[in-house]
Order: sequence, then structure tokens, then C-alpha cells
Amino acid sequence: ASELDNDIRRSILINGAMSFAGLLATIFIIPVASRYVLRRKMFGYDINKKGSPAGLIQVPESMGLVSGIVYLVVMFLFQHFYFTPDSEWLVEYNAALASICFMILLGFMDDVLDIPWRIKLVVPSFAALPLLMAYAGGTSILIPKPLQGFIGIELLDLGWIYKLYMGFLAVFCTNAINIHAGINGLEVGQTVVICCGVLVHNVMQIGSQAIERQQAHAFSIYLLQPMIGVSLGLLAYNWYPSSVFVGDTYTYFAGMTLAVAGILGHFSETLLLFFLPQIINFLYSTPQLFKIIPCPRHRLPIFDPKTGLLTGTKDLNLVNLFLRMFGRCSELQLLVRLLFFQGLSCGICFAARYMLAGWYK
Ligand code: UD1
Ligand code: MG
Repeated sequence: ASELDNDIRRSILINGAMSFAGLLATIFIIPVASRYVLRRKMFGYDINKKGSPAGLIQVPESMGLVSGIVYLVVMFLFQHFYFTPDSEWLVEYNAALASICFMILLGFMDDVLDIPWRIKLVVPSFAALPLLMAYAGGTSILIPKPLQGFIGIELLDLGWIYKLYMGFLAVFCTNAINIHAGINGLEVGQTVVICCGVLVHNVMQIGSQAIERQQAHAFSIYLLQPMIGVSLGLLAYNWYPSSVFVGDTYTYFAGMTLAVAGILGHFSETLLLFFLPQIINFLYSTPQLFKIIPCPRHRLPIFDPKTGLLTGTKDLNLVNLFLRMFGRCSELQLLVRLLFFQGLSCGICFAARYMLAGWYK
């Protein structure tokens, strides 16, 4: 096993320090930005507090915009500290940032214009274009050992189909986070848990690899640490009881960043394992998403102002399923349960990877 390269180690540490600065900047800027969006009448009402005094408060929307801008500033500045002997990485790095930046723009557009669901669904595929066009990495997938005998090959080159898959990954990650939402802190909370899971995955892998693999893992660490920083800053205000909402600006930005980290870190299949709750939520939601069963604008529980508890509705999503399965509870309790499930899924992911690793050796 090789050692972690010294330049990479230095870059990771500087990136970590800059991420911490990003966290502080986000905490500092959100209250200022909140005043501006309220002036522009960009606010929402907290539906899960309807009937109580808190339900009458105008909560500033789209605060993911602050996270997104701070993130981009950190990432652009970090290029200066990206220590590698060549500059090949620069193309993909900037393509990744262009995709994330485009996604923030389109997410914010959605918050302002409230575009229809069917359009919203495909919008991330446009944002993925800068990355897909610049991507020069491998387009082959490794066939698991037990299947190699049947198919007769080890590697399968998918060519342009692989790029199509990358586009779908961007569409899936963004929408999957956006529809696993509706209670205080859930959008940001799930993102932080997934990012931490993926970060741990990278850190566990990076030391024992050849230099090219180290660079790929370092690449996604550089993308993830600042994401965790700006998300924690936002979570400070979005945690129950929320004083700001994150908007689709944030959910799209978060999904795209994770998709990009998975693609450029060359572990997009593993990435999907971290999205287990989102996959369950998505599959469970399909009858409503495809309008086989009516889909209201909000698929949220019913709040009882007398007891302060939430009751599940018939809507087909994980939030309501948890309430129906484990009984009524407070919004905070529900949040903690859902985030615990997210963390548990990361654990399952590590276990599954450990067991399947033999397949790919
Ligand atoms: C998605 C979900 C929708 C869910 C909504 C909540 C699908 C197809 N769509 O829609 O069911 O209701 O997210 O974000 O599953 N809000 C709260 N409490 C929160 C967060 C949001 O009451 O903790 C409400 C606020 O009124 C806020 C609004 O939701 O203004 C934001 O909704 P938005 O993110 O625009 O909804 P979608 O992403 O379209
Ligand atoms: Mg949303």
C-alpha cells in the first residue's frame, strides 16, 4: 500500500480550513440576506405549524443561495492551493463548478418563478451539460467477478451511454433530495449526513491507493468539505424551529454537488448506496409523481396545534410513512428519526461495500 501523497495532504488541510471559513461566512451572511428577501416578499409559511402562532411568521425563502455563493467563492479561491504537478485537473474542476453554478441559477429561478413539476424534473440535465461535455474520464464499468464468466469480459465500455447515465445521475440526485423534504431541517440534514458518509468513504480509501486514485478521491474531498461547511452554516438557521427555508436553490445545489463528487471521484455506483432513503422515497412516490394518484402541491403531515404533534397523511412519501409506521410525534422527533435512518443507511452502505468489495478485487 502506498502512502498519502504530501501535496494532496496539504491541499486537503487547506481545503478543510477554507471550509470552516465558509461555515462562518454563511452564519454571518444569512441574517443579512434574510432581510433582503423579506423585502422582496420571498417568504413561506411553515405549514407544519399551521394553527399555532409560529404558523403566522413569514419565513425567508431560498437561503440556500447564500450557501451556494459562499461555496463557489471558496471553491474558486481554493484552486490556488490545489497542489499537483500538472494542470489537467483544471478543466474538470472548472467544468464541475460551472455545472454547480448553473444549477444554483436554475434552482433560484425555480424559487422565483415556481416552474411546473414536469419542467422542474428535467432542468438539472441542462445544468449537468458543462460537466458532461468536459468529462474525459473512463466510460467503462467493471463487471462483478461472478458475472464475468457469463459475459466473458472484465470491462464494458459504455461510451456515450455512460454520459447519459451521468446526466440521469444529476437529475436523480437533485430531485431525490428535493422531494424528501417538508419538515424543518430535513433537506439540509440529509445532505450533511450523506456528505459526511461519502467523505468518510473517501478518507478510508485514499491512503491505500495508487496516485491517480488518490487524486480522484482528493478531488471529491475538495468538493465535499466546503459543502459540509456551508450546509452546517445553513442548518444553524434551518434546524427546528426553522428561521429560514432553504429553497429549491439549495436542494438542487446539494444534489448536483453530490452527483459531481461521485462522478469525478469515480464512485457513482457507491454514491447511490448512500441515497438509500432517497431511493425508497422516490420509488414510493412514483404513483404520485407520475400522476397515477393525485399529487397535491405539498405532501405534508397534518399538524395538531393542541398537542403539537404531526399525523401522517395518505401521501406516498417517507415523511408520512414514518408517521404511519411509528406513530404520531413532534416535528423535531420526526426529523431526528429520519436523519437517524439516513445515518443507518450510510452504515448499511459501508457494510455492503465491504462485503461486495471481493467482487471487484
Ligand atoms: C417538495 C415536495 C412537496 C413538499 C415540499 C416541501 C414532492 C413532489 N414535492 O416540493 O411535497 O411539500 O417539497 O419543501 O414531493 N415548507 C414547510 N416546512 C419546511 C420546509 C418547507 O412548511 O420545513 C413549506 C414552506 O411553505 C415553503 C415551501 O414548503 O415555502 C417550499 O416548498 P418547495 O421547496 O418550493 O416545494 P417543492 O420542492 O416544489
Ligand atoms: Mg423544494
